[in-house]
Amino acid sequence: MARVVLGMLGLGTVGSGVVKLLAQHKHLQLKKIAVRDLAKERATTTTCPVTTDVNEIIDDPEIEVLVEVMGGEEPALTYIKRALEKRKHVVTANKEVLAKHGPSLFALAREKGVTIFFEASVAGGIPLISTIQRGLGANQFKAVTGILNGTTNFILSNMEERGLSYETALAEAQALGFAEADPSADVDGHDVAYKLSILAALSFQRFVKPTDIYRQGIREITPEDLALAKEFGYRIKLVGTARSTNSTNDPNTKPNAEEKSLAVRVHPTLVPLSHPLAAVSGSNNCILVTGDAVGEIIMVGPGAGSLPTASAVVGDIINLESALKLPDFASYFQPSITSQWSNTASSDDWVSPYFLRLSVADTPGVIGTIGTIFGNHKISIQSIIQRGVKDGRATIVILTHDVREGDMNAALTDLKECPFLDSVASAIRIYRAG
Ligand SMILES: NC(=O)c1ccc[n+]([C@@H]2O[C@H](COP(=O)([O-])OP(=O)(O)OC[C@H]3O[C@@H](n4cnc5c(N)ncnc54)[C@H](OP(=O)(O)O)[C@@H]3O)[C@@H](O)[C@H]2O)c1
Repeated sequence: MARVVLGMLGLGTVGSGVVKLLAQHKHLQLKKIAVRDLAKERATTTTCPVTTDVNEIIDDPEIEVLVEVMGGEEPALTYIKRALEKRKHVVTANKEVLAKHGPSLFALAREKGVTIFFEASVAGGIPLISTIQRGLGANQFKAVTGILNGTTNFILSNMEERGLSYETALAEAQALGFAEADPSADVDGHDVAYKLSILAALSFQRFVKPTDIYRQGIREITPEDLALAKEFGYRIKLVGTARSTNSTNDPNTKPNAEEKSLAVRVHPTLVPLSHPLAAVSGSNNCILVTGDAVGEIIMVGPGAGSLPTASAVVGDIINLESALKLPDFASYFQPSITSQWSNTASSDDWVSPYFLRLSVADTPGVIGTIGTIFGNHKISIQSIIQRGVKDGRATIVILTHDVREGDMNAALTDLKECPFLDSVASAIRIYRAG
């Protein structure tokens, strides 16, 4: 069998897994690997030559496929571009580069008649991208929603199950290797925003700039929020959503025919305990894809880790190998993504119920005033309870019916003017199927 010759950038967590899996596929020849530091101890041994000179791979005409598993924006972006310029196919796990530079990279690949495979860039071992691209290719997509970050899911699961503070749960996740020393990419939602940008491109043909994605992380979530949510029949998850505004979140809103913007957002969300997203614990990912023909499908599995992610990378290489035998295969495998960025819908127009936890003075008239303010902003309360009266202060927990986000923000602004209010301790959206 003809060999496919590969060069790989990176021999860390994912690269080591790729080396292990490629050992079972002898016709895929890994010719050279580039790393930063030759002296570093590795999780795997390899007979493949290792270099610190990336040019030895990019300039080698025998290498047909660049496997990029080094991560980060630069110099990965430059190396990918150079490989495409030299008409090498690229297999990458790099969500950051794709989310920030997808339109120009896919345009360059198209121009050069090569392709970019990127299954590992979203949801690790779950074959989500090929499912959206090919298995569900007959559908018009309405929404892609899910738990796309295993680190934050692991932290939230531990906070809920063991009553840990965010700080303690994060420290444990770091000690176990589930979270980075600098956790901000995960806990502030950047990682999910990159993945949503890629999912939007696949489902709606346009990338969304990560900076245009509404993003809120999990740092403010407390054990108290998790316990109260459970009491009301919910679990708090970091949920990412990319939704066409043509299948608007608000059934009463008719989208403007001219409007092609997407609602793309990531934030903590109360999910009903009976919903499949609530059952996903630890570092797993879970994605719901809604298409007009198929309805809703759910995929659950490991969203990260050496071998699960390598499974996606090597799966791409195997697909690429079969595709190389087809005439004009690049046009078949190249996703139909435009080189334009998509607009995003205003965050104010998002509609969902809310969970609120307020710290207030325990004085008469508080609940009446809250009711009046909410009524002024067309907010209907589903349930309101007072909790934990101590030293003249009380906690009020409110669940609302559907609210436009702009109306909720206006109501909270008015509420903050009230002398009885100490703080809006939490304002968390409740999941709403769209
Ligand atoms: N880890 C996961 O579970 C996972 C899951 C899905 C996607 N991904 C994505 O996969 C990619 C790799 O992640 P990872 O966890 O494997 O990262 P990692 O463990 O930090 O490994 C990065 C590798 O790249 C090498 N490298 C970095 N900069 C380099 C440079 N300038 N020149 C040459 N080599 C360089 C490093 O060399 P040294 O070893 O010499 O430092 C290291 O071998 C990232 O895009 C990440 O987002 C990871």
